[in-house]
Amino acid sequence: MSQIDWSHVKNLVLLSGAGISAASGIATFRGSGGLWENHRIEDVATPEAFNQDPQLVWRFYSMRRLQAGHAKPNEAHKALDAFAEKFNGEITLITQNVDGLHRRAQKKSHLDAICMHGTLEKSRCTHCHEIYLDDMAWLPSEGMPRQTGLLRTDEQANSDALSNYKIKLSDGLPLSPCCQELLRPHIVWFGEEPLFMPKIFASLERCDLFASIGTSGVVYPAAAFLEIAKSHGAETVLFNVESLPQQEHVDLYIQGPAEETVPQQFSL
Ligand code: APR
Repeated sequence: MSQIDWSHVKNLVLLSGAGISAASGIATFRGSGGLWENHRIEDVATPEAFNQDPQLVWRFYSMRRLQAGHAKPNEAHKALDAFAEKFNGEITLITQNVDGLHRRAQKKSHLDAICMHGTLEKSRCTHCHEIYLDDMAWLPSEGMPRQTGLLRTDEQANSDALSNYKIKLSDGLPLSPCCQELLRPHIVWFGEEPLFMPKIFASLERCDLFASIGTSGVVYPAAAFLEIAKSHGAETVLFNVESLPQQEHVDLYIQGPAEETVPQQFSL
């Protein structure tokens, strides 16, 4: 297998997708056993679905919070964090994942992932859009909400953590402390604009190496990032366990499970 030559890389952009968390036991979206196999996207991941049935949508995201809370960062998340600590250049990590595993893999590095599709451990007010740290599973049919383990104890103490407020409920679902309106998961649903796009586009324009890890590359705008980086002169690397049509267009295609290939490639 070819090895990435890091000696000339000064500005690196990484894009991760569900495949990087597969070894942590988090289901990917597409393919057999994928999350969307058991759910119609439009029933749980659209603003219309939330307006129509907030209980169902909160149930879906509460179950995902519980699952992610039990999961642990795997060797791929850890290798990126360790690499960032040593790498003598700029790194931008963009993730489509909402599981918080890049954040939880952070040791000494300051590799804060840009969570373009939002993140499970946050909720926001449906009225004024104020964002709160919130790792509760809101499951009204099962009685009291449960903590999911997505946040560390010190994070729970942050002033924007929902646990610091006395929360009123409406039909078992949480109301925002700011407006007393329904809180919603801080997740980008289908039909909504991904977050931090100006910052992401700026990073794509100036990187000299772009690596995509564990994403099927079918959901836009993330699916276009590789081409954008390439058109601005970046070398491109694709990591996936399967063959993908995009592999024809990259400088290096690394096939295999990310939890093995990422530690092999991201070492200095
Ligand atoms: N290592 C590397 N790649 C893997 C692994 C692994 N261990 N396991 C699976 N993969 C690959 C699959 O081959 C697939 O190409 O990860 C990819 C996962 O693709 P998707 O399930 O489509 O996930 P993703 O690309 O992150 O989806 C993008 O779609 O529904 C939305 O908002 C959701 O952020 C998500 C977006």
